[in-house]
Amino acid sequence: MNAPGPAIHATQPDQVFDWLDTEAANRAEAGLTRRLRPRGATSDELDLAGNDYLGLARDKRVAGAAAAATLRWGAGSTGSRLVTGSTELHSELEHELARFCGVQAALVFSSGFTANLGAVTALSGGESAIVTDKYIHASLIEGCRLSRADVAAVAHGDPSAVAHALATRRKARALVVTDSVFSVDGDLAPLGELSGVCREHGAALLVDDAHGFGVLGEGGRGAVHEAGLAGQPDVVTTVTLSKAFGAQGGAVLGPRRVIKHLVETARSFIFDTGLAPGSAAAALAALGVLRAEPDLPDKVLTAANGLAAGLREAGLRVSAPAGAVVSVRAPGAEDAKRWAEACAEQGIRVGCFRPPSVPDGVSRLRLTARADLAESDVDRAVKVIAELAPPRARSTP
Ligand SMILES: Cc1ncc(COP(=O)(O)O)c(C=O)c1O
Repeated sequence: MNAPGPAIHATQPDQVFDWLDTEAANRAEAGLTRRLRPRGATSDELDLAGNDYLGLARDKRVAGAAAAATLRWGAGSTGSRLVTGSTELHSELEHELARFCGVQAALVFSSGFTANLGAVTALSGGESAIVTDKYIHASLIEGCRLSRADVAAVAHGDPSAVAHALATRRKARALVVTDSVFSVDGDLAPLGELSGVCREHGAALLVDDAHGFGVLGEGGRGAVHEAGLAGQPDVVTTVTLSKAFGAQGGAVLGPRRVIKHLVETARSFIFDTGLAPGSAAAALAALGVLRAEPDLPDKVLTAANGLAAGLREAGLRVSAPAGAVVSVRAPGAEDAKRWAEACAEQGIRVGCFRPPSVPDGVSRLRLTARADLAESDVDRAVKVIAELAPPRARSTP
């Protein structure tokens, strides 16, 4: 006999969403209220919250390419990639991305999120085991949830934990999934060691290089390239075009047969309208800028290290940035929110990461460096953030 279900009461139409108010009240109680803060086209605020790491979103070469392509090709791509949504711009972008990163082929998605969903689900399934770092990005987690694979999330940055999970898996096929630069603390995964472990255990390695692409590696070729793994037959990389490239969209990079498989099976590719032509053109232009100015990524790293060093000197708990992301621990969610708001009042916009955006439950201010930050910007940011720090920020574990 089936167990009795919950008592179902007759509910008025205007009461069916009452539970949302209860949940909103719970979030407010825990200091987890979120709201949208629309920005104007221009602002005097110093932006240390966005992901425009190379300062290309407004670069005339990039924005101008988007405008010209929009006029030529239209505002939207008009259909999914397999129907009318693939233009010559998409093919050119895929060809150029693959050439730049030293891989056989690339496939452009409408976002980094859909690229991750597509890659994880299409490269696993009910017959697979997936082993992930426990701090991977939400889009990869969603891919794992949709995959129907056996999923094990293991200790952060720990190749031996990955090896153990692979050795004890119950499925023959296996995929190891990690971010390169982790989005919360900005630390770098041990990609070389992870690749070694994958090889020992017959697993493929999928790396989300959203925060490494355009910032790390020779001329911004990314963390996978820097680790010497680009072009390997068992390594697949996902990137976003929406951070360092200042555009919009995402891509999967890897062996030709992987890309062919994604075209034919990845649901977030097949059932999604292709990337807008303007975004594809903007990404192509950004690639051109990066090729012409290969020292841009170093400027991001200099700014990130300057921010981290200054804040650490001021006694705050600061991560060691591998790329553009610098994170500063806050005593709690409410403190983090008030700290970020106080910085905004002083003209410094910083990110505020609270649960559920922080996998370890520790709230943080999250700062992002950009290539176009002047030394005086870094100094001003350090001064304001340190002065406004809540009393317990310096003793936060
Ligand atoms: C690590 C990581 N992966 C994937 C994404 C998703 O990329 P997109 O914003 O292009 O969808 C993000 C963006 O927030 C990210 O930080």
